[in-house]
Amino acid sequence: MTPPDIGRAVELLRAGQLVAFPTETVYGLGADALNAEAVARIFAAKQRPPHHPLIVHLAGAAFLDLWAHPVPAAARRLAEAFWPGPLTLILKRQRRVPDVVTGGQDTVGLRVPDHRIALDMLARFAGGVAAPSANRHGRISPTTAAHVRAELGDRVPLILDGGPCQVGIESTILDLSRAQPAILRPGAIAAADIADVIGALPAAGPRDEDDAPRVSGSLPGHYAPRTPLRLVAPEDMPHEVASRIAQGLRIGVLASHARAVHHPEVLWQRALPDVRTYAHDLYAHLRRFDGAGLDLIVVEATPQTVEWLAVNDRLQRAAAGSGEEEP
Ligand code: TXA
Ligand code: MG
Repeated sequence: MTPPDIGRAVELLRAGQLVAFPTETVYGLGADALNAEAVARIFAAKQRPPHHPLIVHLAGAAFLDLWAHPVPAAARRLAEAFWPGPLTLILKRQRRVPDVVTGGQDTVGLRVPDHRIALDMLARFAGGVAAPSANRHGRISPTTAAHVRAELGDRVPLILDGGPCQVGIESTILDLSRAQPAILRPGAIAAADIADVIGALPAAGPRDEDDAPRVSGSLPGHYAPRTPLRLVAPEDMPHEVASRIAQGLRIGVLASHARAVHHPEVLWQRALPDVRTYAHDLYAHLRRFDGAGLDLIVVEATPQTVEWLAVNDRLQRAAAGSGEEEP
């Protein structure tokens, strides 16, 4: 592996071009957040509908005031506690932040990713890098450089390879732009972790269901494989697997507890029952299943506990959006 060319990444960003880069959550597809034309290239490459706001990635909390105003005390405390790390803060934007980044809203999403290569690139660029996950719209987020290549290929002039992402699912999104803090997307940083810092439990879930999609990750069919995916209760796994085999289907199975079935039409993937490892590996497993020419992916439901909230959220969306044709 050649060392990632961060100098070239910075040149490309300055020239208004795209750069895919690693973060601790998933790979991002970045552009200079102050260059509306550059940001428009992200939407084109991802085939992402317009008006979906993007997260602006910063080199450190010291840059907060250049992007958000006002910056509430809670935001500073959370940045101090969790940045660099998998927490995105939604704050009222500074006026200079282009509409193409915020989806025309008066708020902006900000985060400092916890990855050496991303931080190095951001520090040398010394600006904000607008970046969604580096997948085509509605698809599984990439957690390796090879995934990005498979999703976007030559649509992006440079992919910085930082190895597999440590966390593996997208950041927690916390809206601090209104009176009541609310988690718009669950992630590795839990409501209780946030409460420890700001002294109150944030509300759960997006509130503006009637609004334009403020969080595309909150659409029911997001993070989805092309192959149909079913979530099955652990106790129903043996019956589910046996009956799918009897139907003559080729299936992929992701399970922590069910006993593995050895059969030529079954691709069995054991998942460790530890939530961190499970999240770390989830998208890579789904992507491999998706490329294996299966008829169905069967996922053993994970525990319905608060610890598993973010993983369960992604699994439910994967099930809801699976089996669809190209958007
Ligand atoms: O972990 C992550 O957050 C990754 C890495 C690359 O940083 N990024 C990511 O970006 O997941 P994306 O675009 O796939 O999802 C970001 C979510 C979107 O659902 C978007 O709607 C929401 O953040 N978002 C961004 N700005 C927002 C805003 N001002 N108000 C509400 N939601 C916002
Ligand atoms: Mg995404």
